[in-house]
Amino acid sequence: MIPKLGSCYYPEHWPEAQWHKDAKDMVNSGLSWVRIGEFAWSRLEPEEGIQNFDWLDRAITVLGDAGLDVVMSTPTAAPPRWVVDKWPDMLLVDSEGQPRKFGSRRHYCFSHKGYFQESSRITKIVAERYGKNPYIKAWQLDNEYGCHDTTLSFSASSESAFKLWLFDKYKTIENLNEVWKNVFWSMEYNNFEQIELPNLTVTDANPIHELDFKRFSSDQVVKFNRSQAFIMREHTKMPLIHNYMGKITDFDHYEVGDDLDIASWDSYPLGFLEDRSTQNEDFKLKFMRFGDPDFQAFHHDLYRTVGRGRWWVMEQQPGPVNWAPYNPEPATGAVRLWSWEAIAHGAEVVSYFRWRQAPFAQEQMHAGLQRPDGESAPGLIQASQVNSELKEFTDIQQVQSKVALVFDYESCWAWEVQPQGKEFSYFGLVYDYYRALRSLGLSVDMLAPNQKDLSGYKIVLMPGLMHVTDNLKIAIESFEGVVISGPRTGSKTLDMTIPNGLPPIVPGVIGTVASVESLRPNASISIKAGGNFNCWMETLVDCDNVIESCEDGRPAVIGQKNRPYLVGWADQKALKRMFKEACLSQSIPITQMPDCVRVRETLKHRFWFNYSETESKVGAIKLPPSGVFWEPL
Ligand code: GAL
Repeated sequence: MIPKLGSCYYPEHWPEAQWHKDAKDMVNSGLSWVRIGEFAWSRLEPEEGIQNFDWLDRAITVLGDAGLDVVMSTPTAAPPRWVVDKWPDMLLVDSEGQPRKFGSRRHYCFSHKGYFQESSRITKIVAERYGKNPYIKAWQLDNEYGCHDTTLSFSASSESAFKLWLFDKYKTIENLNEVWKNVFWSMEYNNFEQIELPNLTVTDANPIHELDFKRFSSDQVVKFNRSQAFIMREHTKMPLIHNYMGKITDFDHYEVGDDLDIASWDSYPLGFLEDRSTQNEDFKLKFMRFGDPDFQAFHHDLYRTVGRGRWWVMEQQPGPVNWAPYNPEPATGAVRLWSWEAIAHGAEVVSYFRWRQAPFAQEQMHAGLQRPDGESAPGLIQASQVNSELKEFTDIQQVQSKVALVFDYESCWAWEVQPQGKEFSYFGLVYDYYRALRSLGLSVDMLAPNQKDLSGYKIVLMPGLMHVTDNLKIAIESFEGVVISGPRTGSKTLDMTIPNGLPPIVPGVIGTVASVESLRPNASISIKAGGNFNCWMETLVDCDNVIESCEDGRPAVIGQKNRPYLVGWADQKALKRMFKEACLSQSIPITQMPDCVRVRETLKHRFWFNYSETESKVGAIKLPPSGVFWEPL
């Protein structure tokens, strides 16, 4: 496969006379794909019953005639004002009970029946009109589910749908009371009608009430997406895609992905560093022009799995964005580097957001590939460079990694509901393991928690996985490699209780978590062999074997050599040391990377990336500033 480049374009933002030139310029710059339409609803249906699709017909023809493949989108992420007037209670409601207002986007509640009908209706119209259009080669459904905190809605529609969902799951109120253990604090219900959403309670709501609400909310996204996919499939044979976001975990992306053909995501390295990273100020300063070297890679690997091998970057940051607390200019060459990192992880398409910077509205301060006056911005020059460089390749193919890391959305929700320590974050824990692996020069595959087959892997890691699924248990039992688990792995039942026999309930690990503690920032427990546990620590007893101990005498790592269980949230020093040993035991070669250099292996190449404005050296490899280097394997 040879990846292609593209950009996001809004014909409705520009005079029609300009479309031809824009399309020609895109092609001449080396772009092959163009995504359109995801926010165009008010121009397609200015009022109820009035439709105006002619301009879009012409736009698609202009883009397609110029040689571009079009990704057409359903416009449901931005319902126009008249839709809100028709269904005033379609607005999602926040946990404080406040409806979110019209005036930006994503203002709908996934559970609102009227909006569901409205979105199905517009999807059908768009699908019927364009499903067989020869220029449209892929479809994007909606835009960034869950972005701007829009998965959970505490609305009346959501509450009614939640009651039905609970009835479906528990069948009788007695059963629900028993599973939820509502005897605690006299929370027992007499019927499903009485159950409300778990917000605005005086103190904590029952954790299983909250977890079930999160499961329900995720199911609503899956249902919404599935209904669009169903409509689309009646009218088109082209692949269906959704563009996910960075570090959004409120719905199960694997389940949404099961109804689609390709996963994609929107990669904004500098925006994410400023807006979503928990790294310290020194780190942020150091990487302010590149972004965190592992954050994009983590999502590339995750979404490759969500897309069952097929994934794109639908929106790639091309210059400064507008939405983070600080919005610096990328380093010279960073856009090229980000593009190549995505390609090395298997992106079929890297599409830049957006073609031209809009001199108006919310994103007027957000760079595009072109400046508002139509001149090339630095991102465009780098995109063209990537396009020329791609000509050197006859094929870029992925290969199964030796190391796999399990990522589970349900564990995110469980630990959000009951973190037990302010800083505990499942995402943060898994991400720390990922970083340590990458800093040893390893390529990593991500696995869903119901993975049935571990063959081909040598090391599998599953930190913080609240509950080991039956599939994974069976897979682990016959797996000859190393399985690294803990902390908190196998520590809850699916009903959010502490399992009988006490954690960890992890195949091959013998020991008992006698107690757990969360630690204040700066309170660490040191591990004798090097490194510390921060934030989270367990006291393990009755272990069949202690591999490492802490300075305070407690076990640090228990279990057998190929089934180690870490009792706390280990820092990078400890993780790297332990992972290095596991790699040695499995004859996996490692290379210690400086923190700004990363590698990724494909079937035939090793790609090197220098996330720095100065030259970096690793052994004989010399990488210029923002350098990307590939060598045959
Ligand atoms: C994305 C979104 C785009 C645009 C972009 C700006 O989250 O999908 O429509 O707003 O951010 O960076």
